[in-house]
Amino acid sequence: MKKFSIFIICLTLCLACNSEDNAYVEISENKKLDFPQPDFFPLPAYDLEENPPTEKGFELGKKLFYDGRLSSTGVISCGFCHIQEFSFTHHTHEVSHGVNGALGTRNAQPLINLAYFNEFSWDGAAPHLDSFSIIPITTDVEMNETVTNVLSKLKQDDEYLSLFAQAFENGEVDTQNMFRALSQFMVMMVSAETKYDKVLEGNAVFTEAQAAGKALFDAKCSSCHKGILLTDQSYRNNGLPVDPQYNDVGRKRVTGLEEDLYRFKVPSLRNIAVSLPYMHDGRFQTLKEVLDFYDSGVTASSTLDPLLQQEEELGIQLTETEKEQLIAFLRTLTDDNFLLDPQFSEF
Ligand code: HEC
Ligand code: HEC
Repeated sequence: MKKFSIFIICLTLCLACNSEDNAYVEISENKKLDFPQPDFFPLPAYDLEENPPTEKGFELGKKLFYDGRLSSTGVISCGFCHIQEFSFTHHTHEVSHGVNGALGTRNAQPLINLAYFNEFSWDGAAPHLDSFSIIPITTDVEMNETVTNVLSKLKQDDEYLSLFAQAFENGEVDTQNMFRALSQFMVMMVSAETKYDKVLEGNAVFTEAQAAGKALFDAKCSSCHKGILLTDQSYRNNGLPVDPQYNDVGRKRVTGLEEDLYRFKVPSLRNIAVSLPYMHDGRFQTLKEVLDFYDSGVTASSTLDPLLQQEEELGIQLTETEKEQLIAFLRTLTDDNFLLDPQFSEF
């Protein structure tokens, strides 16, 4: 009997020290992740000190990103509309498809290099990445859910309780932590290993057609699709004829200003060969159609960007050979490593 009591005491002590060990391990296990800053990129706009990506925060963000429970029907996750191999766009869908097949009015944007962007969505409606996620969750044609409902669903799941506890100091399953975790997952999506990057680093050379395309691009496109991110992040009207079905007013929706009518964010062209269809409403299926549009489809209006109406000429005149060369260049902007990177994939 005495032996047995000693055994029990030892066992209790052992369990106690073990659980302390575990608690210690849990905290120390949540390591800060190294942000993969490419040498030739600008500094991130996202404040990585304020919400530093950690192993557990990233894991939680990824789980949330691929979880249909963030929607009212339980099946529409962020990843449903943002598919990794198509640069996190909704492949083949012109405008987004949300709960019960509800149609939105805009084409899902790629999710890459978000750490470098100042504002989000085609019209810049979200001034911060952490405040973006509330839009898809609550939009009726997207996930059609309330944040309160989402949180109560998450609280019923032990895995979430434990991830929130490990990822954040206060351990709460709350709105702020949920959005911060999603941001931690998304800011790590840095894409900078294209052939174009390798050429800039001196580790690859363009073919003749790609080099000719790059020269054309620099001359005709890079005032807007500017610099290493291939966007100057401004809002501009590139002359798309207005689609009466949506009559999307663009940036004016956010600012109310007449001068912002039909202006949309200049998109980054990284991974452009895989992120079809194109433009804010996904109206073009191929890069050839996009170039045909710049060549002969640009439409005049009070807010058309001056760069696209020079010397009485509308648009950017291009020969068929020049279009082929431009497309050859645009195809060097695909980052296969990123599109297949298992750290971002659902399974
Ligand atoms: C039903 C399809 C759909 C779902 C679900 C969806 N999105 Fe999107 N996403 C879009 C569309 C469409 C846009 C463009 C929105 C706009 O311009 O108004 C977009 C834009 C974005 C952007 C802005 C990118 C940029 O460059 O400005 C981010 C970030 C984003 N989504 C993240 C998410 C997250 C996180 C979730 C899940 C909480 C999510 N999305 C769920 C369709 C979807
Ligand atoms: C005056 C600024 C400007 C110039 C010059 C310009 N673009 Fe654009 N581009 C934009 C804007 C703004 C959009 C988004 C328009 C929208 O969806 O309403 C866009 C969209 C695109 C898209 C679709 C991207 C996507 O994700 O859907 C491609 C491809 C593109 N441009 C390529 C080019 C090429 C190639 C050139 C040169 C021949 C060029 N652009 C010149 C401003 C410009």
